[in-house]
Amino acid sequence: MKKLYFFLTVVASLIVWRNAIAQNIIKPGETWPDDKGNHIQAHGGGIIQLGKYYYWYGEQRRQGLDTNYRYVSCYRSKDLVNWKFMGDALQLSDPEQLGRRWVLERPKVYYNRNTKTYVMYFHLDDAKYKLARVGVATSKKPQGPFTYVKSFRPLERESRDIGQFIDDDGTAYLVFESRPTKGFFIAKLSDDYLSVEKEVCLVNAPLEGGAIIHYNGLYYAIGSELTGWRPNPNRYATATSLAGPWSEFKDIAPPATNTYSSQSTMMLKVTGSKTTTVIFMADQWRPKTQWDSRYLWMPLEIGDGKLVLPQPQPWQLNIKTGEAGVVNSPAE
Ligand code: GAL
Repeated sequence: MKKLYFFLTVVASLIVWRNAIAQNIIKPGETWPDDKGNHIQAHGGGIIQLGKYYYWYGEQRRQGLDTNYRYVSCYRSKDLVNWKFMGDALQLSDPEQLGRRWVLERPKVYYNRNTKTYVMYFHLDDAKYKLARVGVATSKKPQGPFTYVKSFRPLERESRDIGQFIDDDGTAYLVFESRPTKGFFIAKLSDDYLSVEKEVCLVNAPLEGGAIIHYNGLYYAIGSELTGWRPNPNRYATATSLAGPWSEFKDIAPPATNTYSSQSTMMLKVTGSKTTTVIFMADQWRPKTQWDSRYLWMPLEIGDGKLVLPQPQPWQLNIKTGEAGVVNSPAE
């Protein structure tokens, strides 16, 4: 009995120790432990940088949640690899009488420096995805608690998947898929970020999971086909101005891989002392076991109007220099 107790204590200590040591490798498609050793729950998410911290918000889908609510999680990191769970930033009960299977997806948070307010947007819908609105919630702290403010259709348009883009000059945009117009809108937020002020562009491509980045004088937009949870070949286009004209859309990876079984949610630019890396952030959805959905993050090969998602493999990021590199596996 004593031996068993000793053995269990050693195993427990090893688990705690393993979870406590810093991680330095991003492993696409694997479980990604947070500071407590739990798989990160920030699906369909978005990241903002505030001072020395990055905040990652996403759909909280852990097992055992109260099904009357929808939850948005918040994680914090200095290096984009080790994430501290800051709690559920939003816990919301059906805000517009949408019925038992109402939907809150793809939350994105903006920080408004004028009003010192964190403004969260999310896709709000009923079970049949007919409402097609955005919901807005606000908080005075990055980790919440966020309070529901309202819902609306941006530019009076149907809006389903949303994306977030903050340009280098700090201007904040909402990207949203619009089924009737067979495309996605890029729209500027109002000064207080609480509403959508004006249309910047309707990109004429029926794509969702919209993500935009400004890199070396060019805008790159990525989107996925409309195939629900099933992955498809994600594509990209470029433009010298957000307002367009946008180039033809091309594959970001060999189409047969269906974007290595993932769907875009955001691109993140890390500018360091030596170089700039653009990270492709995507979800590998597991619709029947959503809490186990995985993340595919990879540094993109990007420049001169070309964008390629390399084959996923473990990689490292130096947050100070901005350098990224794959981790060489030992020779077989
Ligand atoms: C996807 C979308 C997800 C979710 C899903 C539901 O196309 O990107 O956010 O809405 O459909 O089937």
